[in-house]
Amino acid sequence: MNAFSLQGKTALVTGANTGIGQAIAVAMAGAGAEVIASGRRDCDETLEMMGRGRQMRLDFSNPMAARDVFAAERIDILVNNAGIIRRDDAVDFSEADWDDVIDINQKALFFTCQAFARAALPRGAGKIVNIASLLSFQGGIRVPSYTASKHGVAGLTKLMANEWAARGLNVNAIAPGYIETNNTEALRADPERSKAILDRIPAGRWGRPEDIAQTAVFLAAPASDYVNGAVLNVDGGWLAR
Ligand SMILES: NC(=O)c1ccc[n+]([C@@H]2O[C@H](COP(=O)([O-])OP(=O)(O)OC[C@H]3O[C@@H](n4cnc5c(N)ncnc54)[C@H](OP(=O)(O)O)[C@@H]3O)[C@@H](O)[C@H]2O)c1
Repeated sequence: MNAFSLQGKTALVTGANTGIGQAIAVAMAGAGAEVIASGRRDCDETLEMMGRGRQMRLDFSNPMAARDVFAAERIDILVNNAGIIRRDDAVDFSEADWDDVIDINQKALFFTCQAFARAALPRGAGKIVNIASLLSFQGGIRVPSYTASKHGVAGLTKLMANEWAARGLNVNAIAPGYIETNNTEALRADPERSKAILDRIPAGRWGRPEDIAQTAVFLAAPASDYVNGAVLNVDGGWLAR
């Protein structure tokens, strides 16, 4: 058996139309999984890149959007990647920017995990990969709801691992460093912030979505069967600095 193969497994990846989610979907398909690319809009480009698989509309502005998905069919791997960010000074931050981010990044993530677990626990097998952030460990600046939500993702990943590890479910998270996606467009467009970030990354470059994707494959594969409740930073060494 190849411990890094996803052959015979079905994986649902949220926010799979672009960025990190798209790269994860493509890498999981490459590792042999049947991938359901989910997005709040179409994932045609991802399907084309995978060469197979299918798509499913899920909009997590309703945090319960995935409630019935896992009862309807067997899904072995869940990747909670969908997420948003809002920037403003803490002193000006609006309630809407708080609620929107917490709903998608944290509430939807928890209830999607819960729905998955309700179907997977009776089978005694399943893998959950949550996408956390460096702001699961650090405070960040001008992103209060994002920081709160991603600290929450790290905590919930550990809580769910504690409850479900002995019942065959692996729950882990990846904390990506600074990755070139839509999420970081504003940072990269600001020459001062961009330079300050780059100067601190030991690897000397921004990350690429593909850097995260193979870690997700590992956390979905048998190779990681004894990894539970980990929040794995894939950050070019940022947190080591
Ligand atoms: N880029 C980084 O440096 C970085 C670092 C740490 C963590 N992350 C995390 O990585 C994950 C992916 O982000 P990314 O960098 O790839 O950014 P991205 O390109 O903006 O991707 C975010 C994904 O989430 C989806 N999404 C947003 N709102 C949604 C909703 N209401 N329902 C369903 N899907 C929704 C987006 O769909 P649309 O395209 O339709 O908006 C998109 O597919 C996020 O959780 C983010 O917090 C990113």
